[in-house]
Amino acid sequence: MSKKVVLLPGDGIGVEVVREAEKIIAWLSDHYNLDIQTETHLAGGASLDTHDVPIRDEVIKACREADAVLLGAVGGPKWDDYPADKRPEKALLRLRKELGLYNNLRPVMVFSSLKDASPLRPEIVDGVDLLVVRELTGGLYFGQPKGVTEENGEEVGVDTMRYSVSEIERIAEAAFKAARGRNKKVTSVDKANILASSQLWRKTVSRIAEKYPDIRLEHMLVDNCAMQLIRDPAQFDVILTENMFGDILSDEAAMLTGSIGMLPSASLGDGTGMYEPVHGSAPDIAGQDIANPLATIASVALLFRYSLDHEEAATDIETAISKVLNAGFNCRDMSRHARDVLSTSEMGDKILATMAALK
Ligand code: IPM
Ligand code: MG
Repeated sequence: MSKKVVLLPGDGIGVEVVREAEKIIAWLSDHYNLDIQTETHLAGGASLDTHDVPIRDEVIKACREADAVLLGAVGGPKWDDYPADKRPEKALLRLRKELGLYNNLRPVMVFSSLKDASPLRPEIVDGVDLLVVRELTGGLYFGQPKGVTEENGEEVGVDTMRYSVSEIERIAEAAFKAARGRNKKVTSVDKANILASSQLWRKTVSRIAEKYPDIRLEHMLVDNCAMQLIRDPAQFDVILTENMFGDILSDEAAMLTGSIGMLPSASLGDGTGMYEPVHGSAPDIAGQDIANPLATIASVALLFRYSLDHEEAATDIETAISKVLNAGFNCRDMSRHARDVLSTSEMGDKILATMAALK
């Protein structure tokens, strides 16, 4: 029963952090006798440089046929001036759309050993453990019409926020199911005082909620949510929201932990799931073996949980991460909060050694 995982390291530090993740996958495959095969492909700027496209059709096909995809990060200043269809980010958007990854899970938890790393006071972030459930294949990112056209002699840029009932239903279901395994509360975030798509969103989410009487549902306007995340972030359990609001709110929520560099994500649909750190390619520190691989390693935990259905391996990784942090180790981005600062590869090795010691 062999399993296939496609690795898309991408650009910048993506390459370095995926290298550490690969070590973890290999160790767990061996340890649990899972026969996981990995296969590495180019994506983003790396693919543009070699193949002149952000991602090739055959790579999309390999991803579709795999059990899971692990992506590092794409993008960098080198490709910033490329036209819209030749931007590294296009690789991500194609993968999301073509793999049907409508359900983006972004867990945000504050490790007790890192409470002081938050820009908010420790008593405000104490106990934060929330999950952003972001709709990932609709809304402004994909709605038609879209583009820059000419009207009455001047350029006009258009994006369309569009949601169908079925798109809202399936992401709402995902959020309520996730809440069942957590603190049983869903905050659905919209802009229903202004936007038609949000009015439909609110109505549909309320209807789906009737199927989940054990879950508390509240609706919150997006501007208020942005404020509440800073005022009292511990009030949230599951935040359910559309694509663009989720993009913005998840960066804000990530910063509660003090570093976007520690957070994993999962993008799920009906087929292959994709896993990636929330951070970007960080070109300023690329190639120096100083990037923090923990977000990617934590993404591997999600990969084992959701795509390989192996809770034990997922828990091994998460336990090892907590132990390593609690023992005072971290990477340079968190050096103010670490007794021992490790390089990227040292951190990978430390997690491996800690997992081995659990056994
Ligand atoms: C994210 C990123 C992407 C997004 C970009 C890189 C296209 O910001 O995953 O949050 O906007 O979705
Ligand atoms: Mg984002």
